[in-house]
This record gives sequence, C-alpha cells and structure tokens, in this order.
Amino acid sequence: MTDESLAWAEFGDTLRLPINKKDYLLDIPWEEAAFVPQHPLIDIGSGSGLSTVTLGERFPDSEILSVEPDPLMRSLLMVRIAEREHLRERTTVLPDTINATWLPDQCGGALLFNVIYFLGGRARDRFWQRMAEVLVPGAPILLSRSYGGVPERTVERKLTGTATMGRHEYQRYFEATPAFDNRMEITNTYVVLRDGEKVREEVTKLEAWGLDEELVLDEIPIGKFGIEEINDRYFAIRRLPDIRR
Ligand SMILES: C[S@@+](CC[C@H](N)C(=O)[O-])C[C@H]1O[C@@H](n2cnc3c(N)ncnc32)[C@H](O)[C@@H]1O
Repeated sequence: MTDESLAWAEFGDTLRLPINKKDYLLDIPWEEAAFVPQHPLIDIGSGSGLSTVTLGERFPDSEILSVEPDPLMRSLLMVRIAEREHLRERTTVLPDTINATWLPDQCGGALLFNVIYFLGGRARDRFWQRMAEVLVPGAPILLSRSYGGVPERTVERKLTGTATMGRHEYQRYFEATPAFDNRMEITNTYVVLRDGEKVREEVTKLEAWGLDEELVLDEIPIGKFGIEEINDRYFAIRRLPDIRR
C-alpha cells in the first residue's frame, strides 16, 4: 500500500494540469468575494501551491500566507513559489495546520478550496473561532462547495482522471465505502500505462470526514460571519463587524 500524499505528490499535478472547467481554480468569483487586499491573504491547505499561485497572481501587491502542514505537498509548494520571484518576496509558507499556525492579527481573506473535509468536528469549531480572530470585518473565506459527501453505500471504482507525459499515460481510479463515525474510506488507484500496457500501479487508502453542505453551514458561528451564496461552486463566508453594546 502506498501513502496517499506520496502518490498525490507524484501524480497529482500531472493529472490536474492543465486546469479544466470543473476545477475550482477556474472562474473564481473574485469580485463577489471582495477580498480586502491591503491586508495579508491566506491560502488554507495550499497543497502543491496551484491555489497559492492563483491567489498571488490575482493580488500582485498583497502579502500572501500559504498554510500547508503536509511535508510532501509543502515541498512542491515551496518549489513553485521559489521559482516565481514576484511571489517569493511576499509569500510566507506556514508548515502547521490552520488551527495551530501563527497568523498575523489582521488578515484580508482566505481561500478554503477542497480542505474542509480534512477537519474533524472539533477542529471545524476551532477553525471558525480562529478565523474570527484574524479576519478584519468584511473579509471573506471563499469556500469551494466540495465537502466529500457522505456515501450511504459503496461508490464503485470509477476512472476520475487521465493525463499523459512523454510515453506514459496516467490514470486515477476512485472508490469509497462508508466507515465508522461518518467517515469515508477512500481507495485511490494510480495506474501508469506505456504503449497501452500497465507498467505500474499504486493503491492508496485514506479516511476523510464525510460532510454535507448543511452540516458545514450550520456550524458557522452566527454573529461572527455572514453566509453569501455566490453561485453553485462557491460561498463567501464573510467576517461581520463585532456588535458592541
Ligand atoms: C485537496 S488539497 C487542496 C489543495 C488546494 N487548496 C487546491 O484546491 O488546489 C487539501 C490540502 O489541505 C491540507 N490540509 C489538511 N488538513 C489541514 C489543516 N488542518 N490545515 C491546513 N491544511 C490542511 C492537506 O495537507 C492538503 O494539501
């Protein structure tokens, strides 16, 4: 069995690039999100850094904070930023989880793309509190509407991506079964073909929290955040000013 982050570090960007229509990095509703770019902007769970680059390019004068606890992903992220001078000088890579990391007092918004299902219930509660502490009034958390889902029964193996590089074709297959405590056990299979013949296969297993939108939105502390549905792909969760009596 291969470690998922090891396999994803190797195959992930090859399978994802070039960015396609279904990807949350395409057609980001920047206007509606209304980041506050005079304050630092956070990319939460940056993975290999594609989202950090997208954020940094959209706001070329802003300070960027890129939070990524996984050492393999962070290595890819560091290379991506190191190679881009215009990002390198104003991007800080933070190696802890979002709840444990240092952050400055006043931030102007955050991307939360494909990350919420990595957080358990208590971590999600702590997360909203932490964001309320560091976001200035009006700043958004731009949330991708991707929650992992809660499968009631097994999701049969299906092909979810293909890509080529040189002589090789890369394929990724996904399957899932419900597991204890509202979690999903996910099996990913990465297959490498040359001249149509399988030359390698890596199988990984991981557990993810099965979340749905209702649960995620219900947990957002009222009074601290407003919930704005932007379109069928994103919500802006906007920091409200604290009420003083
Ligand atoms: C599916 S990737 C998303 C990458 C990127 N946001 C994107 O959409 O391209 C999720 C990332 O979140 C990171 N992650 C998991 N738990 C986290 C936490 N508690 N705080 C911050 N990042 C976390 C994982 O290491 C992983 O790299």
